Amino acid sequence: MKENILAITGPTSGIGRATVMELTDKCDRMVLLVRNLNKGEELKNEIAAQSDVKVDLIHCDLSDLSSIEKAAAEMKDKYDSINHLILNAGVVSLTRQETKDGFEMMMGTNYIGHFYLTHLLIPLVLNSEVKQIVVVSSDGYKFSPITAPYFKRKKFNPVTNYGKSKLGTLYLMQALYDSYQDQGLKTTAVHPGAVSTNLGKTPENERIGNIVYKMLDPFFLSPIEGSTSTVKAVEAPERYNGKYMHNGNIVKIKKHGNDIDARTSLISATLDVLNLTHL
Ligand SMILES: NC(=O)c1ccc[n+]([C@@H]2O[C@H](COP(=O)([O-])OP(=O)(O)OC[C@H]3O[C@@H](n4cnc5c(N)ncnc54)[C@H](OP(=O)(O)O)[C@@H]3O)[C@@H](O)[C@H]2O)c1
Repeated sequence: MKENILAITGPTSGIGRATVMELTDKCDRMVLLVRNLNKGEELKNEIAAQSDVKVDLIHCDLSDLSSIEKAAAEMKDKYDSINHLILNAGVVSLTRQETKDGFEMMMGTNYIGHFYLTHLLIPLVLNSEVKQIVVVSSDGYKFSPITAPYFKRKKFNPVTNYGKSKLGTLYLMQALYDSYQDQGLKTTAVHPGAVSTNLGKTPENERIGNIVYKMLDPFFLSPIEGSTSTVKAVEAPERYNGKYMHNGNIVKIKKHGNDIDARTSLISATLDVLNLTHL
């Protein structure tokens, strides 16, 4: 019998951290794709203190295409299948930043980074028994539709730019469903809710971020509560296949989130910029 392997991006904080702690008994091995190996080691020790699940750490900075390539190559070397791939990592940037490859930071990390990682790992996912990809998207996709230029636009608004990056992840899930459902892929996008995490807290805005978070705290879910949607998706891959889900409920997507022309145009521009022929 093959090992049941779960791989996740962004497990070192917030929703991702809670998700791995909730899923330790749902797999034989967890592959933690982390940008900070020290935080990864801490998490690995924490998991080992309460579970026998095997845990591997792999360095993967989603804002750097060469780091994603290295991580995927290491995974292909070590494993021949991945049952559940969870695209959870995310960044909110209040000022305009760029990734190593010159993409706007949120689009480059949240969307392009995950798109590329998925492209590289899909053969491993399709080679598993479960064949599942869970995309942690966000209701933030509602903030804005998306039009070209997609990746290097100079005009910047933190709210709409974040929204576009999360709309990109929703389109990614839909494109994966269309391309691979007949090969048995199950894919789901989830909205975790408004969750108290480190999202958007950078050293530059930590003080103001903490004040805002404190004021809004009663309205936020805890990270464990925020992990519920991902956990439910992992527990029932077929039930939410091809859907956008929150807390176990399939959610109707707004018109621009179902715009096939907009999606096709974004996916095709992404393939071009990554020099790929297919997702
Ligand atoms: N919090 C909410 O209310 C909310 C609502 C809707 C959707 N979401 C989505 O939920 C997901 C998890 O966010 P969170 O709220 O748990 O935020 P968080 O506490 O800031 O955690 C984000 C995770 O992503 C990792 N990450 C950030 N940039 C990365 C990069 N370049 N390469 C690799 N990993 C990177 C972080 O690593 P480090 O630990 O090294 O920083 C961390 O593990 C995100 O996709 C977010 O968009 C959150």
